[in-house]
Amino acid sequence: MTPAPWRTLLDRALGAGADPAARFLQLATVRPDGRPANRTLVFRGFLLGSDWLRFATDVRSAKVEQIAFRPWGEACWYFAATREQFRLAGPLDLVTADDPDQSRLDARREVWAALSDAARAQYAWPQPGADRAPDAAFAAPPGDPGEPLPSFGLLLLDPAEVDHLELAPDPHRRTRYRRGPDGDWDVRPVNP
Ligand SMILES: Cc1cc2nc3c(=O)[nH]c(=O)nc-3n(C[C@H](O)[C@H](O)[C@H](O)COP(=O)(O)O)c2cc1C
Repeated sequence: MTPAPWRTLLDRALGAGADPAARFLQLATVRPDGRPANRTLVFRGFLLGSDWLRFATDVRSAKVEQIAFRPWGEACWYFAATREQFRLAGPLDLVTADDPDQSRLDARREVWAALSDAARAQYAWPQPGADRAPDAAFAAPPGDPGEPLPSFGLLLLDPAEVDHLELAPDPHRRTRYRRGPDGDWDVRPVNP
């Protein structure tokens, strides 16, 4: 597969500066009432052989209901070291324990295994967003790295539109990438 034309730029921004916070981005979705919803997520790398972004999420969280309602999202990602913003919009796809496709289940298992003990333990915590449970309910041991808990979901974003803004040049540079129906990318410099 040929990587998307924005991919090398994103890889470069991710690699520049040794800032662990560069893995945090904001992902917006749409609530069933039409209002926007937004939250910070950790970028968990690209799905093998693709430009799809991987995220870990609890399938009981509100974002999952929003994605079922409207499976489209936009990630907003700022890299302070290089002063670049990427906005990546496209279909969102959730891989859960009952997925019929073995390669998708393998990808879910791979992301689960790469989580820290502390991150894996969170998937045994009580229902996200519900009234606060007693502290004892949060004392679960970390899940088995070889077997994802049912509450663990692999969330995939398939970028169909990418808006790249560079603040370092003067004047700033902005480029819009749009994927056409044939899979080819239209690349267009636009005013910042
Ligand atoms: C730095 C940071 C990293 C986070 N990483 C994740 C993550 O990788 N996955 C996740 O589901 N929530 C993550 N969260 C929590 C989400 O921002 C959010 O609170 C949670 O997913 C519930 O969101 P929802 O109600 O919109 O589903 C992170 C929060 C912060 C502040």
